Amino acid sequence: MQDRDGVLMAIIGKKGSGKSYYAQHELINNDRLLVVDFKRSASWKRFADDNNMYFATSLADLVDVLVDNRDGNFRILYFPDAVNGRQEMHELCKLIFKIQRPYMELDSDEKFTLFIDEAHMANPLHDPYPFGTGLLEAITMGRESGISIIYSTQRPQRISTDFRENVDRVCTFKVSGKNAAKAVAAMCDDNEDIEKGVLDLKDYYHLYYEGGDVELVPPI
Ligand SMILES: Nc1ncnc2c1ncn2[C@@H]1O[C@H](COP(=O)(O)OP(=O)(O)OP(=O)(O)O)[C@@H](O)[C@H]1O
Ligand SMILES: [Mg+2]
Repeated sequence: MQDRDGVLMAIIGKKGSGKSYYAQHELINNDRLLVVDFKRSASWKRFADDNNMYFATSLADLVDVLVDNRDGNFRILYFPDAVNGRQEMHELCKLIFKIQRPYMELDSDEKFTLFIDEAHMANPLHDPYPFGTGLLEAITMGRESGISIIYSTQRPQRISTDFRENVDRVCTFKVSGKNAAKAVAAMCDDNEDIEKGVLDLKDYYHLYYEGGDVELVPPI
């Protein structure tokens, strides 16, 4: 992997373990950020309001704002449509590739960060791309276009294997159950310390895995 490449990251942990809180603190410094929350949570809306993020009210609105700001900076929150959310993700990823074309052609250094909260809803294990392969292309080929994708979920065993097999970094809070622990460890090259450790982490502690190294990180 080169410095220029985007990264795939997973933020895992059971309900209330601190995933969104962590994401909010880590992401806020990104200049070109799109947050997509399938749970449409009040906590993201509040965070967006407090941090002057643009709240896109429809896919059309989101597309307009992205296209208008394609060469500059943006921080946007979007709640996908309750019925068509997965189709929207396909279309959105196609657009993100277009926006990042100058990056791929080495005419730009502006990356793009896509954060998906409750990612098991966007890219589930079963039938992951019913509306087209935009999201698949983003997770398997987005790096060279400077596209970083971060998935957050309490159910790592329920997200697509395409994502799990391609992930570069894992940040995991306490998970509930052996299936989740196994799935997290599998994303970390079957690391045994992770498989054991992730079941009894203290509140808001997480394990951070990248390139074969595990680090225990205290609450931020
Ligand atoms: N490091 C922390 N220090 C203090 N409070 C925290 C920390 N992390 C999370 N919290 C608090 O714990 C609560 C749950 O956190 P958060 O919403 O991030 O969990 P989550 O993993 O995203 O849960 P869910 O799966 O329900 O979305 C929130 O009220 C949050 O403010
Ligand atoms: Mg959350």
